[in-house]
Amino acid sequence: MKALILVGGYGTRLRPLTLSRPKPLVEFANKPMLMHQVEALVEAGVTTVILAVSYRAQQMEEELSKEAKKLGVNLIYSCEREPLGTAGPLALAKEHLVGSNENEDEPFFVLNSDIICDFPFKEMMAFHKKHAGEGTICVTKVEEPSKYGVVVYDSDTGRVREFIEKPREFVSNRINAGMYVLSPKILNRIPLRPTSIEKEVFPGVAADGALFAIELPPGGFWMDVGQPKDFLTGMCMYLGHLRQKEPSKLYSGAGVIGNVLVHPSAKIGEDCRIGPNVTLGPEVVVENGVRISRCTILRGARVRSHSWLEGSIVGWGSSVGQWVRLEGAAVLGEDVIVGDELYINGGQVLPHKNISSSVPEPTIIM
Ligand code: GDD
Ligand code: MG
Repeated sequence: MKALILVGGYGTRLRPLTLSRPKPLVEFANKPMLMHQVEALVEAGVTTVILAVSYRAQQMEEELSKEAKKLGVNLIYSCEREPLGTAGPLALAKEHLVGSNENEDEPFFVLNSDIICDFPFKEMMAFHKKHAGEGTICVTKVEEPSKYGVVVYDSDTGRVREFIEKPREFVSNRINAGMYVLSPKILNRIPLRPTSIEKEVFPGVAADGALFAIELPPGGFWMDVGQPKDFLTGMCMYLGHLRQKEPSKLYSGAGVIGNVLVHPSAKIGEDCRIGPNVTLGPEVVVENGVRISRCTILRGARVRSHSWLEGSIVGWGSSVGQWVRLEGAAVLGEDVIVGDELYINGGQVLPHKNISSSVPEPTIIM
């Protein structure tokens, strides 16, 4: 089985992290976002994964080839000269998806690279093979559907009646979860130019009655982690899921509260309170008396003593000074230094900045 992952967007909503690394390589719960997906695909029987890349292909190749080898999966990089949107990359990768055999009709997976859930790949494939349409979309229920693609479908058969990308008015709260099974036939609808699968392809397939929807199993979790607030919400969901499925992966120790993931090479000082919902990456150092909740601290960052961090992301190799208060979905880019006794409330600090005065309102520090 094959899969194609759309890894080409610029990830602007996850800046400043994506100024240092392409979004799919940003570590979510101590693993590049993309690897969560690749591992689940392999688990479902996929042997070839095509990465549809439109920029920073080399960085992606360098970092992923070792991981792919470990998993025994064949990674193919399909590089765009100009961004081809969410459908164009399928036309570009056609020969990889269907091979040279024109009669090939084996369906394949297509994924957005920034979604996290308990991937229901086997169920999706089984459903797709039963209905004989051109495409299956996995859907989920959300509170705020306007920032997603909304799917209106028949609850008995799953047949999609309408697909509306980011609707202005409320249509339904069932949305496109960013995971598809497609049959090669759908490729006849996709030209080799920048094309949106959501706006230009799915509405037509739905109108022809050839698009079907399958709901994520109830009780599961799902999140598009492509923006800081959602990234943190997704992390909370993911750690909660780990608690149920693989509690041994979570950290327990003095001063740790709730679901906390700590890389074995991270160090936690004395008299700290860490958690709930914290991820500490490799080589992270947390000094004494620090309080952290609902945060991701990425590789090599240091949090100096007596600081208080909530609902924020600290980038690779950054340093948060002593007695600092960091909150409000603040995101520190790579290698940022925050001086002692400062207050940072929200906003983004671009890579390699040195902060020497408080930032009480969310702003972009360039
Ligand atoms: N190769 C390639 N080329 N990939 C691209 C390009 C491109 O030009 N543009 C975007 N992508 C990739 C992104 O990297 C991401 O993995 C995926 O396509 C979707 O792009 P996003 O920018 O994350 O879209 P979104 O989050 O606004 O909306 C999409 O995801 C929602 C679910 O999270 C849509 O598919 C919605 O319908 C869906 O509900
Ligand atoms: Mg997204």
